[in-house]
Amino acid sequence: MNILSVESSCDETAVAIVRDGREVLTDCIASQVELHKLYGGVVPEIASRKHMEAIYALADQALDTAKLTRKDVDAVAVTYAPGLIGAVLVGVNFAKAAAMALDVPLIPVHHIRGHIAANYLAYPELEPPFLCLVVSGGHSLIVDVKSYTEFHIMGTTRDDAAGESFDKVARVLGMPYPGGSALDKCAQSGDDTKYAMPHTKLSGNPLDFSFSGLKTAALNLIHTTEQRGEELDIPSLCASFSKAVSDMLVPRTMEALRQTGYKKLAIAGGVAANSRIRRDFKSECEKMGVTMYAPPLKLCGDNGAMIGSQGYYEYLAGKRAGQDLNAFATMSIEVG
Ligand code: KG4
Ligand code: ZN
Repeated sequence: MNILSVESSCDETAVAIVRDGREVLTDCIASQVELHKLYGGVVPEIASRKHMEAIYALADQALDTAKLTRKDVDAVAVTYAPGLIGAVLVGVNFAKAAAMALDVPLIPVHHIRGHIAANYLAYPELEPPFLCLVVSGGHSLIVDVKSYTEFHIMGTTRDDAAGESFDKVARVLGMPYPGGSALDKCAQSGDDTKYAMPHTKLSGNPLDFSFSGLKTAALNLIHTTEQRGEELDIPSLCASFSKAVSDMLVPRTMEALRQTGYKKLAIAGGVAANSRIRRDFKSECEKMGVTMYAPPLKLCGDNGAMIGSQGYYEYLAGKRAGQDLNAFATMSIEVG
């Protein structure tokens, strides 16, 4: 079954074609990052307009590169939540028109479920149940993936998302938006013990995260060093901050894993590209005898293929949308 899949929830317009949920026939992306860099972050109205300009040509490009015709498309899947509402609406509207014109089913897909499904594309043997840590620009979740379409949130962030905190610190250091990967690169040559970061204590659910204290501590350090006229060791600050974020994520995720008894851990989302986080999870998983799954970097960020993968499993579970499908800025992964 060939699914034409559409993603437009933030600043990447993406159209892919995925066969039977696991095989990527093509994965076309028109990134708007260069444009938003000028403003230091995503400007929602510009994002919507750029999606509108790019999406039709991108769908043609997807068919061309996969060497398929419109007749070969068996269903259309689309991200319908969560995301920047104007941006998501463009993809949803396009997908509705495409499904109607091709006379094929329309499958609504939750964006975060899609991030998790990126692992199905990278690892043909991976099947639920397993535990997944999803860390992106807008979300930080420990998810019990009970089946392809049943999810239980075990932990979440109380404040900022992990990616948001990376981006904010990177921005203050003068790195271009989105700063997460630049900060990661800079951290490679730094000493992660040079700057002490606070250990945030949280009451309530012990599996929840908090990143705003870490972010504020890093920002204060940057400003006070500047005010005192001292030289900031930027690579070491990046390394110390990355370590602190990893120390927030890894022990909680491993504890959740212990609670479920699963021996499979997947990571997903843009921040799952972070080298420190990947390395720390790898060594913890080895210690615990757990198999770790981490998609290649290009499948960690937003893409259309992950939506096509999850769309296939939603289809098998009977999920369909009518021509009245709407877009939603927020929606729990458990509901979607
Ligand atoms: O999943 P994603 O592409 O979009 C959302 O759904 O939010 O995630 C984007 C986020 C941004 O905050 C970006 O800075 C972060 O992922 N990111 C990274 C790295 N690569 C991307 N953060 C830390 N280290 C990286 N290597
Ligand atoms: Zn995303």
